[in-house]
Amino acid sequence: MEDKKILFSAIQPSGILTIGNYLGALRNFKKLQDDYNGVYAIADLHTLTVKQDPAILRKNTYELAALYLACGIDPEKSILFAQSHVSAHSELAWVLNTICYPGELSRMTQFKDKSKKHEDNINMGLMDYPVLMAADILLYQTELVPIGADQKQHLELARDLAIRFNNRFGETFKIPEGYIGKSAARVMSLAEPDRKMSKSDANLNAFISMDDDPATVLRKFKRAVTDSDDKIIYSPEKPGISNLLSIYCAFTDKTFDQAEQEFAGKGYGDFKLAVGQVVTDKIEPIRQEKNRLLNDKAYLDEVLKSGAERAERLAYRTLSKVYKKVGLVARKRG
Ligand code: TYM
Repeated sequence: MEDKKILFSAIQPSGILTIGNYLGALRNFKKLQDDYNGVYAIADLHTLTVKQDPAILRKNTYELAALYLACGIDPEKSILFAQSHVSAHSELAWVLNTICYPGELSRMTQFKDKSKKHEDNINMGLMDYPVLMAADILLYQTELVPIGADQKQHLELARDLAIRFNNRFGETFKIPEGYIGKSAARVMSLAEPDRKMSKSDANLNAFISMDDDPATVLRKFKRAVTDSDDKIIYSPEKPGISNLLSIYCAFTDKTFDQAEQEFAGKGYGDFKLAVGQVVTDKIEPIRQEKNRLLNDKAYLDEVLKSGAERAERLAYRTLSKVYKKVGLVARKRG
Protein backbone atom coordinates (compact mmCIF):
# COMPACT_ATOMS: atom_id res chain seq x y z
CA MET A 1 0.00 0.00 0.00
CA GLU A 2 1.11 3.55 -0.64
CA ASP A 3 2.51 5.59 2.19
CA LYS A 4 -0.71 7.34 3.16
CA LYS A 5 -2.70 7.54 6.36
CA ILE A 6 -5.17 4.75 7.03
CA LEU A 7 -8.90 5.24 6.85
CA PHE A 8 -11.17 2.51 8.21
CA SER A 9 -14.91 2.12 8.14
CA ALA A 10 -17.47 -0.66 8.10
CA ILE A 11 -21.14 -1.27 7.40
CA GLN A 12 -23.31 -4.11 8.65
CA PRO A 13 -24.79 -6.48 6.09
CA SER A 14 -28.12 -6.32 7.87
CA GLY A 15 -30.38 -5.96 4.88
CA ILE A 16 -31.54 -2.98 2.95
CA LEU A 17 -29.24 0.02 2.95
CA THR A 18 -30.77 3.46 2.89
CA ILE A 19 -29.74 6.83 1.51
CA GLY A 20 -28.81 7.53 5.16
CA ASN A 21 -26.04 4.93 4.92
CA TYR A 22 -25.09 6.37 1.55
CA LEU A 23 -24.92 10.03 2.62
CA GLY A 24 -23.52 9.38 6.09
CA ALA A 25 -20.93 6.83 5.03
CA LEU A 26 -20.57 5.36 1.52
CA ARG A 27 -20.43 8.65 -0.34
CA ASN A 28 -17.60 9.87 1.89
CA PHE A 29 -15.67 6.60 1.48
CA LYS A 30 -15.40 7.29 -2.24
CA LYS A 31 -14.51 10.96 -1.72
CA LEU A 32 -11.67 10.06 0.64
CA GLN A 33 -10.23 6.99 -1.04
CA ASP A 34 -7.59 8.85 -3.07
CA ASP A 35 -6.15 10.69 -0.09
CA TYR A 36 -6.04 7.73 2.30
CA ASN A 37 -5.33 4.05 2.27
CA GLY A 38 -8.91 2.90 2.65
CA VAL A 39 -9.79 -0.25 4.58
CA TYR A 40 -13.49 -1.10 4.34
CA ALA A 41 -15.15 -3.97 6.14
CA ILE A 42 -18.43 -5.77 5.88
CA ALA A 43 -19.22 -5.97 9.61
CA ASP A 44 -20.83 -9.42 9.49
CA LEU A 45 -19.89 -10.33 13.08
CA HIS A 46 -21.66 -7.22 14.33
CA THR A 47 -24.78 -8.28 12.48
CA LEU A 48 -25.01 -11.46 14.57
CA THR A 49 -25.95 -9.36 17.61
CA VAL A 50 -29.50 -9.29 16.22
CA LYS A 51 -31.25 -12.53 15.17
CA GLN A 52 -30.47 -13.37 11.55
CA ASP A 53 -31.65 -15.91 9.04
CA PRO A 54 -28.31 -17.52 8.02
CA ALA A 55 -29.17 -17.77 4.32
CA ILE A 56 -30.28 -14.15 4.21
CA LEU A 57 -27.16 -12.99 6.05
CA ARG A 58 -25.00 -14.71 3.41
CA LYS A 59 -27.01 -13.07 0.63
CA ASN A 60 -26.78 -9.65 2.32
CA THR A 61 -23.01 -9.99 2.59
CA TYR A 62 -22.68 -10.29 -1.19
CA GLU A 63 -25.21 -7.49 -1.65
CA LEU A 64 -23.10 -5.19 0.50
CA ALA A 65 -19.85 -6.16 -1.24
CA ALA A 66 -21.51 -5.31 -4.57
CA LEU A 67 -22.87 -2.03 -3.19
CA TYR A 68 -19.45 -0.91 -1.93
CA LEU A 69 -18.03 -1.53 -5.41
CA ALA A 70 -20.99 0.08 -7.18
CA CYS A 71 -20.53 3.19 -5.03
CA GLY A 72 -17.00 3.52 -6.35
CA ILE A 73 -14.75 1.66 -3.91
CA ASP A 74 -11.86 0.52 -6.08
CA PRO A 75 -10.53 -2.84 -4.83
CA GLU A 76 -7.13 -2.08 -6.36
CA LYS A 77 -6.74 1.15 -4.39
CA SER A 78 -8.57 0.11 -1.23
CA ILE A 79 -9.04 -3.03 0.82
CA LEU A 80 -12.56 -4.46 0.91
CA PHE A 81 -13.15 -7.52 3.07
CA ALA A 82 -15.50 -9.39 5.39
CA GLN A 83 -14.76 -8.86 9.08
CA SER A 84 -15.22 -12.56 9.90
CA HIS A 85 -12.49 -13.48 7.39
CA VAL A 86 -9.86 -11.80 9.55
CA SER A 87 -9.94 -13.45 12.96
CA ALA A 88 -7.75 -10.75 14.50
CA HIS A 89 -10.92 -8.66 14.91
CA SER A 90 -12.43 -11.08 17.43
CA GLU A 91 -9.06 -11.64 19.09
CA LEU A 92 -8.34 -7.97 19.69
CA ALA A 93 -11.91 -7.46 20.88
CA TRP A 94 -11.21 -10.03 23.62
CA VAL A 95 -8.15 -8.16 24.87
CA LEU A 96 -9.98 -4.83 24.74
CA ASN A 97 -12.82 -6.39 26.74
CA THR A 98 -10.40 -6.76 29.60
CA ILE A 99 -9.87 -2.99 29.80
CA CYS A 100 -13.47 -1.95 29.17
CA TYR A 101 -16.06 -1.60 31.96
CA PRO A 102 -19.69 -2.76 31.77
CA GLY A 103 -20.91 0.71 32.75
CA GLU A 104 -19.27 2.18 29.64
CA LEU A 105 -21.24 -0.20 27.46
CA SER A 106 -24.60 -0.22 29.21
CA ARG A 107 -24.93 3.54 28.82
CA MET A 108 -24.41 3.52 25.03
CA THR A 109 -27.42 5.01 23.23
CA GLN A 110 -27.46 2.32 20.56
CA PHE A 111 -27.39 -0.47 23.18
CA LYS A 112 -30.33 1.11 24.96
CA ASP A 113 -32.28 1.60 21.72
CA LYS A 114 -31.60 -1.89 20.45
CA SER A 115 -32.40 -3.46 23.83
CA LYS A 116 -35.82 -1.85 23.64
CA LYS A 117 -36.34 -2.97 20.08
CA HIS A 118 -35.14 -6.54 20.63
CA GLU A 119 -36.43 -7.21 24.14
CA ASP A 120 -36.45 -10.95 23.52
CA ASN A 121 -32.76 -11.05 22.60
CA ILE A 122 -30.66 -8.74 24.77
CA ASN A 123 -27.45 -10.71 24.38
CA MET A 124 -23.85 -10.06 25.46
CA GLY A 125 -22.86 -9.34 21.86
CA LEU A 126 -25.34 -6.49 21.68
CA MET A 127 -23.71 -4.89 24.69
CA ASP A 128 -20.18 -5.67 23.53
CA TYR A 129 -20.81 -4.35 20.02
CA PRO A 130 -18.74 -1.16 20.53
CA VAL A 131 -15.70 -3.12 21.76
CA LEU A 132 -15.63 -5.18 18.56
CA MET A 133 -16.00 -1.92 16.66
CA ALA A 134 -13.03 -0.47 18.58
CA ALA A 135 -11.02 -3.55 17.63
CA ASP A 136 -11.97 -3.08 13.96
CA ILE A 137 -10.65 0.45 14.00
CA LEU A 138 -7.57 0.05 16.18
CA LEU A 139 -6.19 -3.03 14.39
CA TYR A 140 -5.30 -0.96 11.33
CA GLN A 141 -3.59 1.96 13.11
CA THR A 142 -6.45 3.97 11.67
CA GLU A 143 -6.29 7.75 11.62
CA LEU A 144 -9.68 8.57 10.10
CA VAL A 145 -13.08 6.91 10.53
CA PRO A 146 -15.86 8.23 8.27
CA ILE A 147 -19.20 7.57 9.96
CA GLY A 148 -22.68 9.00 10.35
CA ALA A 149 -23.43 11.04 13.47
CA ASP A 150 -25.10 8.05 15.18
CA GLN A 151 -21.75 6.27 15.51
CA LYS A 152 -19.93 9.13 17.24
CA GLN A 153 -20.38 7.67 20.72
CA HIS A 154 -18.87 4.35 19.61
CA LEU A 155 -15.88 6.11 18.09
CA GLU A 156 -15.33 7.96 21.37
CA LEU A 157 -15.15 4.61 23.15
CA ALA A 158 -12.59 3.34 20.61
CA ARG A 159 -10.47 6.42 21.34
CA ASP A 160 -10.85 5.96 25.11
CA LEU A 161 -9.82 2.32 24.92
CA ALA A 162 -6.81 3.14 22.73
CA ILE A 163 -5.65 5.82 25.16
CA ARG A 164 -6.23 3.53 28.17
CA PHE A 165 -4.29 0.69 26.58
CA ASN A 166 -1.41 2.97 25.55
CA ASN A 167 -1.23 4.42 29.06
CA ARG A 168 -1.16 1.01 30.66
CA PHE A 169 1.08 -0.92 28.28
CA GLY A 170 3.00 1.73 26.31
CA GLU A 171 2.43 3.30 22.90
CA THR A 172 0.59 0.73 20.75
CA PHE A 173 -2.41 2.25 18.99
CA LYS A 174 -2.88 5.39 16.93
CA ILE A 175 -5.77 7.47 18.26
CA PRO A 176 -8.39 7.66 15.49
CA GLU A 177 -10.37 10.75 14.52
CA GLY A 178 -13.95 10.62 13.30
CA TYR A 179 -14.97 12.11 9.98
CA ILE A 180 -18.59 13.13 10.08
CA GLY A 181 -19.67 14.84 6.85
CA LYS A 182 -20.90 18.42 7.04
CA SER A 183 -24.18 17.68 5.33
CA ALA A 184 -26.64 14.86 5.95
CA ALA A 185 -24.63 13.18 8.70
CA ARG A 186 -27.99 12.26 10.17
CA VAL A 187 -30.66 11.65 7.58
CA MET A 188 -34.09 11.54 9.21
CA SER A 189 -37.16 9.40 8.57
CA LEU A 190 -39.48 10.64 5.81
CA ALA A 191 -42.50 9.72 7.93
CA GLU A 192 -41.33 10.90 11.37
CA PRO A 193 -38.59 13.48 10.79
CA ASP A 194 -37.60 13.57 14.46
CA ARG A 195 -36.29 9.99 14.13
CA LYS A 196 -33.24 8.70 12.27
CA MET A 197 -33.89 7.15 8.87
CA SER A 198 -33.42 3.47 9.56
CA LYS A 199 -33.48 0.38 7.40
CA SER A 200 -35.30 -1.54 10.11
CA ASP A 201 -38.29 0.83 10.12
CA ALA A 202 -41.53 -1.13 9.75
CA ASN A 203 -42.97 1.70 7.65
CA LEU A 204 -41.42 1.22 4.19
CA ASN A 205 -42.31 4.80 3.26
CA ALA A 206 -40.08 6.14 6.02
CA PHE A 207 -36.84 5.40 4.20
CA ILE A 208 -35.39 5.38 0.70
CA SER A 209 -33.57 2.14 0.07
CA MET A 210 -30.57 2.01 -2.23
CA ASP A 211 -32.61 -0.71 -3.99
CA ASP A 212 -35.66 1.47 -4.68
CA ASP A 213 -36.40 1.99 -8.37
CA PRO A 214 -37.06 5.53 -9.68
CA ALA A 215 -40.86 5.26 -9.47
CA THR A 216 -40.66 4.13 -5.83
CA VAL A 217 -38.22 6.90 -4.91
CA LEU A 218 -40.49 9.55 -6.43
CA ARG A 219 -43.58 8.08 -4.78
CA LYS A 220 -41.94 7.97 -1.34
CA PHE A 221 -40.78 11.58 -1.55
CA LYS A 222 -44.25 12.63 -2.67
CA ARG A 223 -45.62 11.09 0.52
CA ALA A 224 -42.91 12.51 2.79
CA VAL A 225 -44.24 14.38 5.81
CA THR A 226 -43.90 18.17 5.53
CA ASP A 227 -44.87 21.01 7.82
CA SER A 228 -47.98 23.12 8.20
CA ASP A 229 -47.00 26.28 6.26
CA ASP A 230 -45.72 26.20 2.69
CA LYS A 231 -42.28 27.82 2.98
CA ILE A 232 -39.23 25.92 1.81
CA ILE A 233 -36.69 27.05 4.38
CA TYR A 234 -34.26 25.30 6.70
CA SER A 235 -35.40 25.75 10.29
CA PRO A 236 -35.52 23.68 13.50
CA GLU A 237 -39.26 24.36 13.55
CA LYS A 238 -39.63 22.63 10.20
CA PRO A 239 -38.06 19.19 10.65
CA GLY A 240 -39.78 17.63 7.61
CA ILE A 241 -38.75 20.30 5.09
CA SER A 242 -35.31 20.68 6.71
CA ASN A 243 -34.66 16.97 6.28
CA LEU A 244 -35.68 17.13 2.61
CA LEU A 245 -33.49 20.20 2.10
CA SER A 246 -30.53 18.38 3.70
CA ILE A 247 -31.05 15.45 1.36
CA TYR A 248 -31.39 17.75 -1.64
CA CYS A 249 -28.24 19.72 -0.76
CA ALA A 250 -26.22 16.59 -0.03
CA PHE A 251 -27.10 15.10 -3.41
CA THR A 252 -26.49 18.32 -5.35
CA ASP A 253 -23.60 19.80 -3.33
CA LYS A 254 -25.65 23.00 -2.98
CA THR A 255 -25.83 25.15 0.14
CA PHE A 256 -29.09 25.66 2.04
CA ASP A 257 -29.12 29.30 0.84
CA GLN A 258 -28.83 28.25 -2.78
CA ALA A 259 -31.58 25.66 -2.43
CA GLU A 260 -33.88 28.06 -0.56
CA GLN A 261 -33.49 30.63 -3.34
CA GLU A 262 -34.09 28.02 -6.01
CA PHE A 263 -37.41 27.02 -4.45
CA ALA A 264 -38.58 30.44 -3.23
CA GLY A 265 -42.22 30.85 -4.20
CA LYS A 266 -42.55 27.20 -5.29
CA GLY A 267 -44.88 24.72 -3.62
CA TYR A 268 -44.09 21.56 -1.70
CA GLY A 269 -45.19 19.43 -4.65
CA ASP A 270 -42.54 20.83 -7.00
CA PHE A 271 -39.92 20.70 -4.29
CA LYS A 272 -40.56 17.05 -3.39
CA LEU A 273 -40.44 16.10 -7.05
CA ALA A 274 -37.07 17.84 -7.43
CA VAL A 275 -35.67 16.07 -4.35
CA GLY A 276 -36.89 12.71 -5.68
CA GLN A 277 -35.33 13.43 -9.05
CA VAL A 278 -31.83 14.30 -7.77
CA VAL A 279 -31.87 11.25 -5.52
CA THR A 280 -32.92 8.87 -8.24
CA ASP A 281 -30.43 10.37 -10.74
CA LYS A 282 -27.69 9.41 -8.33
CA ILE A 283 -28.82 6.08 -6.93
CA GLU A 284 -30.31 4.47 -10.04
CA PRO A 285 -26.91 3.94 -11.77
CA ILE A 286 -25.56 2.54 -8.47
CA ARG A 287 -28.50 0.14 -8.21
CA GLN A 288 -27.96 -1.09 -11.75
CA GLU A 289 -24.23 -1.54 -11.30
CA LYS A 290 -24.83 -3.40 -8.04
CA ASN A 291 -27.23 -5.80 -9.73
CA ARG A 292 -24.73 -6.37 -12.54
CA LEU A 293 -21.99 -7.20 -10.02
CA LEU A 294 -24.28 -9.53 -8.09
CA ASN A 295 -24.44 -11.75 -11.15
CA ASP A 296 -20.69 -12.27 -10.89
CA LYS A 297 -20.24 -14.04 -7.54
CA ALA A 298 -16.83 -15.36 -8.59
CA TYR A 299 -15.56 -11.81 -8.96
CA LEU A 300 -17.03 -10.76 -5.59
CA ASP A 301 -15.42 -13.81 -3.93
CA GLU A 302 -12.09 -12.89 -5.49
CA VAL A 303 -12.31 -9.28 -4.25
CA LEU A 304 -13.16 -10.45 -0.72
CA LYS A 305 -10.41 -13.07 -0.74
CA SER A 306 -7.71 -10.67 -1.82
CA GLY A 307 -9.08 -8.03 0.59
CA ALA A 308 -8.95 -10.43 3.54
CA GLU A 309 -5.36 -11.43 2.75
CA ARG A 310 -4.23 -7.81 2.63
CA ALA A 311 -6.22 -6.83 5.72
CA GLU A 312 -4.90 -9.81 7.67
CA ARG A 313 -1.29 -8.81 7.15
CA LEU A 314 -1.93 -5.34 8.57
CA ALA A 315 -4.14 -6.62 11.38
CA TYR A 316 -1.71 -9.26 12.64
CA ARG A 317 1.08 -6.71 12.88
CA THR A 318 -0.98 -4.84 15.48
CA LEU A 319 -2.35 -7.95 17.19
CA SER A 320 1.14 -9.44 17.73
CA LYS A 321 2.28 -6.16 19.24
CA VAL A 322 -0.74 -6.19 21.58
CA TYR A 323 -0.20 -9.82 22.65
CA LYS A 324 3.44 -9.08 23.38
CA LYS A 325 2.67 -5.93 25.36
CA VAL A 326 0.16 -7.67 27.62
CA GLY A 327 2.56 -10.54 28.30
CA LEU A 328 1.37 -13.44 26.15
CA VAL A 329 4.20 -15.76 25.07
CA ALA A 330 4.65 -15.69 21.31
CA ARG A 331 3.85 -18.96 19.58
CA LYS A 332 6.98 -20.65 18.19
CA ARG A 333 6.62 -21.69 14.58
CA GLY A 334 8.51 -24.03 12.27
P1 TYM B 1 -24.48 0.54 10.12
O1 TYM B 1 -24.47 -0.57 9.15
O2 TYM B 1 -25.62 0.63 11.06
O3 TYM B 1 -24.37 1.93 9.38
C1 TYM B 1 -23.38 2.14 8.40
C2 TYM B 1 -23.02 3.61 8.31
O4 TYM B 1 -24.16 4.38 7.91
C3 TYM B 1 -24.33 5.48 8.81
N1 TYM B 1 -25.77 5.79 8.91
C4 TYM B 1 -26.30 7.00 8.72
N2 TYM B 1 -25.74 8.19 8.39
C5 TYM B 1 -26.57 9.25 8.26
N3 TYM B 1 -27.92 9.19 8.43
C6 TYM B 1 -28.54 8.02 8.76
N4 TYM B 1 -29.85 7.97 8.89
C7 TYM B 1 -27.71 6.84 8.92
N5 TYM B 1 -27.96 5.54 9.23
C8 TYM B 1 -26.76 4.91 9.22
C9 TYM B 1 -23.75 4.99 10.13
O5 TYM B 1 -23.39 6.06 10.96
C10 TYM B 1 -22.55 4.20 9.65
O6 TYM B 1 -21.43 5.05 9.43
N6 TYM B 1 -21.45 0.12 13.87
C11 TYM B 1 -21.34 0.53 12.49
C12 TYM B 1 -20.60 -0.50 11.65
C13 TYM B 1 -19.18 -0.65 12.07
C14 TYM B 1 -18.16 0.34 11.99
C15 TYM B 1 -16.98 -0.29 12.51
C16 TYM B 1 -18.14 1.66 11.53
C17 TYM B 1 -18.62 -1.77 12.60
N7 TYM B 1 -17.30 -1.55 12.86
C18 TYM B 1 -15.78 0.42 12.57
C19 TYM B 1 -16.91 2.35 11.60
C20 TYM B 1 -15.76 1.72 12.12
C21 TYM B 1 -22.76 0.80 11.99
O7 TYM B 1 -23.53 1.41 12.61
O8 TYM B 1 -23.10 0.33 10.85
